[in-house]
Amino acid sequence: MPPHQENRSYPPVALVTGGARGQGAAHVRTLAESGYSVYACDVLDSAGRDCVRGMQSEGLDVAYQHLDVTSEEDWGQCMELINQAHGCLSTLINNAGVMHVTPVHEESLDAWNQLISINLTGAMLGARAAIPLLEASSRGSIINISSIFGAGGALGYSAYAASKAGLLGFTKCVALELAPRGIRVNAVCPGGVSSPMNALEPSGGVVSETPLGRRAEPTEISHVIEFLASAKASFMTGTEVFVDGGYMAH
Ligand SMILES: NC(=O)c1ccc[n+]([C@@H]2O[C@H](COP(=O)([O-])OP(=O)(O)OC[C@H]3O[C@@H](n4cnc5c(N)ncnc54)[C@H](O)[C@@H]3O)[C@@H](O)[C@H]2O)c1
Repeated sequence: MPPHQENRSYPPVALVTGGARGQGAAHVRTLAESGYSVYACDVLDSAGRDCVRGMQSEGLDVAYQHLDVTSEEDWGQCMELINQAHGCLSTLINNAGVMHVTPVHEESLDAWNQLISINLTGAMLGARAAIPLLEASSRGSIINISSIFGAGGALGYSAYAASKAGLLGFTKCVALELAPRGIRVNAVCPGGVSSPMNALEPSGGVVSETPLGRRAEPTEISHVIEFLASAKASFMTGTEVFVDGGYMAH
């Protein structure tokens, strides 16, 4: 079957890290609504279980699984669970992330290491753990959630921007490595999105530099992810897609 046609185990299976709230929860819902069996993974177990319970009550095929993206052991357990249940994984969404705003002269090594370990190393651990199951799906893809700050800077965002720029380089290299195994790897770079991460941010910040004049709703990012994960994006790998209301057009 040509790669642009659907050739997927049914149901296709997705894993979304940071799936307990914010954009991750929106990605879980959107993928489930389009027919995926979705694992929402997070360290916020109570919020994650509540979120998933609500979707299950609507008939969506979703499950919650505790997963700290910095833990090799957690990744191993999660892949074993999915292997037992489905034998393959269609899509890994490396969405978990944290942010802090600190001028570099005040940055602490612990805070820096923790952010890099979640935002960047977590995506590497996930990709590495998922390769066998992605390959087994024959339509596997990885989507790394970067940011407009992966391509440009902002005052105080050095750790965050370094992690998100790192994800873009990681995406390209892994796309090259995994193309022969039939696994596509792409990045999505959201602009400002309404979520708990930026709830305390002054609304002027990114919005004032966004031509569309507002933050995105999380589902506006989810729809791009749904497309990238689908066979409609079968010739896309090693690239990044900005979903930023025109921010990068400046
Ligand atoms: N909100 C924005 O404006 C914006 C813009 C661009 C990119 N992003 C990126 O989008 C992604 C989602 O962020 P959001 O806006 O939904 O924020 P959010 O804070 O609501 O969600 C982040 C999720 O990641 C989870 N997480 C944190 N550490 C984890 C760990 N060690 N293991 C597993 N999960 C962990 C959190 O518990 C949370 O559920 C992040 O990668 C973020 O950097 C956000």
